[in-house]
Amino acid sequence: MKRKIMGDFGGIIHGGDYNPDQWLDRPEILEEDLQLMKKADVNCVSLGIFAWSRLEPEEGRYDFAWLEKIIQRLYENGIYTILATPTGAMPQWLTGKYEEVLQVNEYGVRNYPGKRHNYCPSSPVMREKTWQIDTRLAQQFGSHPGVIGWHISNEIGGNGGDGACHCEHCQNAFREWLREKYGSLDRLNAAWWTSFWSHTYTDWNQIRSASARGEDLVHGQKLDWKRFVDSRQLDFCKEEIRAVRSHSTLPVTANMMEFFYTFDYFKWAEELDIISWDSYPDWHSGADELRTASRTAAAHSLMRSLKKKTFLLMESTPSVVNWWQINRLKRPGMHELSSLQAIACGADSVQYFQWRKSRGSSEKYHGAVVDHRNGADTRVFREVARLGERLEQIAPKVIGTCNRPRVAMVFDWENWWAVTDACAVDNDLDYREVFLDFFRPLWEMGVDVDMVDMEGELDTYSVVIAPLNYMYKAGYDEKVRSFVRQGGCYITTCWSGEVDESDLTYTGAHPLEDVLGIRTEEIDVPAGYCENSVRYLDVDYRITGLCGLVHAKGAKVIAEYQNDFYKGYPALTKNVYGAGEAYYIASINEGSFLKALYGEILKEKGLGCGLQVRLTEGVTVNERSGETDDSGQTRKIWFLQNFNRGPASVELLACYENVETGEKMTGKIELPPFACVVLTADE
Ligand code: GAL
Repeated sequence: MKRKIMGDFGGIIHGGDYNPDQWLDRPEILEEDLQLMKKADVNCVSLGIFAWSRLEPEEGRYDFAWLEKIIQRLYENGIYTILATPTGAMPQWLTGKYEEVLQVNEYGVRNYPGKRHNYCPSSPVMREKTWQIDTRLAQQFGSHPGVIGWHISNEIGGNGGDGACHCEHCQNAFREWLREKYGSLDRLNAAWWTSFWSHTYTDWNQIRSASARGEDLVHGQKLDWKRFVDSRQLDFCKEEIRAVRSHSTLPVTANMMEFFYTFDYFKWAEELDIISWDSYPDWHSGADELRTASRTAAAHSLMRSLKKKTFLLMESTPSVVNWWQINRLKRPGMHELSSLQAIACGADSVQYFQWRKSRGSSEKYHGAVVDHRNGADTRVFREVARLGERLEQIAPKVIGTCNRPRVAMVFDWENWWAVTDACAVDNDLDYREVFLDFFRPLWEMGVDVDMVDMEGELDTYSVVIAPLNYMYKAGYDEKVRSFVRQGGCYITTCWSGEVDESDLTYTGAHPLEDVLGIRTEEIDVPAGYCENSVRYLDVDYRITGLCGLVHAKGAKVIAEYQNDFYKGYPALTKNVYGAGEAYYIASINEGSFLKALYGEILKEKGLGCGLQVRLTEGVTVNERSGETDDSGQTRKIWFLQNFNRGPASVELLACYENVETGEKMTGKIELPPFACVVLTADE
């Protein structure tokens, strides 16, 4: 049976955001688009994303005829549609007539109409108007054979905002949310530790959102406000999902924004049928290109991990963006490489923002497949068309496969919020950055990684890495205990197990003291005042961040600090617990330390890069595999990617077949700059 990606569509999706609503007075442009799409092997577009004012030009007057015509024309030409609900931007008639639909900022000032992503998720009017247009769209297009899925709004909470609205509707909803959570003010006061600075609440109506104008130092409150903002926006999204599902059974997605601070995407994932996201790495920024590459791989991996399934790359630029300080062109090859990197990490699509450049307003110089001039005769168009061909060629091998890592990293949004607000040893401490630094060596080694939050399952992995797990959610310690007891390998760091879900510190032992075999004491950031290092396997590694002072309590000390009063304290410990073991890394060190440590552990576990290859710097591998069939055979496909701006040679230690050329490949091979070779086992 042909595997379906979305709706009835079964190939790799290639296409992008299409805004014909900006060109309705130029029918010849629409015809040209069709011809060019076919030429570029585009098979799907996202339509209607910001088209509310075209779809409902006046309150209650709907005009879908133009959209119907376009969807039909596309379909007749073999191009499918992912149809958006239009709430990413609001029409003037709506914001002009109903002020309550606009967000109020933390200083109590209501926004003026304009821009996008700025509606109040609690406004009854906004909810009603959204319900009306979404259900009508679903009714009209939900069974159109050319429509394969729903795209809810656009980058919800995005564009610089934090998704929060502080209006009175939202204040009341926050109080209700708290009542439901705590039941009584006594419980709330205890969880928020409000006896500090005499902030005890005696009436629910005294409670307001966390804001710079009022209270933003009660950590428990701040954390709950962030949870509330997240759940409020998700609630709005769920209502949109209900609206489209009222007349349609098509799958639903909402385009995400990688490690987006405001929303706990693990929670959002539960409501969506398929994950999609928008990827805009700063290629060629002049900074370390490999850092950009590994961070992009981490973001793709996060998206795959949300449902442990393949996902869609909903937006990417075929050439430049327009919102970095300097916006550089993708160098030749980079478009194919960065697109194939997404596929390598589990995407079943390459989609763009945008198909055709607009003529006016802030995105007129944002990259697009079709420029203001020259039609198909551009470098960008040719690269897109060439990628389209490649995607068609590799699709039969790719569809039905996914990355299936044995290594997981714990990434938890609530922990991120708690670390950010900790007011402790390093107030610039950035959980995401540290997390990404812990990811990079695995990427360099060609080892795929899943990400799980503290509520996720650990048992399907052999190795779990949990940097800066500052806040332990209820039950997390027990889960780790059972994982290690049953043979798992758990690696964690300093600044873990400090506070509970309410951001109240643990008193007494570290919650995982028995598993880790250590007692924790103080924490410091010596770098900048007194350089220090960790000696591991006879090599000294620089300490670059946090530095914890701990004592072994049963654990074996594998590395120690080398200087100052820290000298002789454990820097790395290993504790055998049940059938498994737990490592504690007491300080944040330069990346090569992790590479050495991971290398040792993975070797011991028989894990590593699935492709038999000797990699060189800047070249990495991802592996996608199919289900294992009855005869024990598993279809595997590898993406060998060179992120260097120059050629790189690697050595294949077995014989493989190039999926696109059929060529047999073994031994030393030379990869051109920014090249990706897709390999399968030689049969
Ligand atoms: C995305 C957004 C698109 C477009 C793009 C430009 O964040 O969803 O509509 O603005 O950025 O890079």
